[in-house]
Amino acid sequence: MSTINKMKLTIEAKSQNESFARSVVAAFFIQINPTLEQVEDVKTAVSEAVTNCIVHAYDGAQTGSIEISCTLTEKDMTVEIADFGKGIANVEQAMKPFFTTVSTGERSGMGFTVMQAFCDSVRVTSEKGLTTVTLVKKVA
Ligand SMILES: Nc1ncnc2c1ncn2[C@@H]1O[C@H](COP(=O)(O)OP(=O)(O)OP(=O)(O)O)[C@@H](O)[C@H]1O
Ligand SMILES: [Mg+2]
Repeated sequence: MSTINKMKLTIEAKSQNESFARSVVAAFFIQINPTLEQVEDVKTAVSEAVTNCIVHAYDGAQTGSIEISCTLTEKDMTVEIADFGKGIANVEQAMKPFFTTVSTGERSGMGFTVMQAFCDSVRVTSEKGLTTVTLVKKVA
């Protein structure tokens, strides 16, 4: 399926940019006529991915870049969320339900599980200095 539109957004890894990012991605998604439920699903998944960049990639420093790229076809949207932070040591383990590296009890380890539940596919690649989470959400 061929690309009908693309956009790229770079934000600072600040908590207040999380809702901004999710709203921008949702507004872009609207172009391919998703249902309200599909829009909510995308917002939830993007929110989890961006929060991970803020909390984990940059250890809550409230600085560092997050790059969000969206590609639309008539049938789906692909959202790539990239950070340049510390990386994920073991991606397979990180994606398991309830796995978290935060020992304070503040985190439930359900972010990736939520992304998987609300998207049609979730791919993660990571090395020190570049982590990319790629979400695909289909319409209809
Ligand atoms: N962008 C990232 N950079 C570095 N580590 C990450 C990143 N995203 C996730 N991780 C690691 O993967 C683990 C699992 O992430 P996940 O979102 O599933 O759970 P969590 O963030 O710990 O908890 P929750 O999302 O429920 O608040 C995190 O604890 C963290 O160690
Ligand atoms: Mg998380």
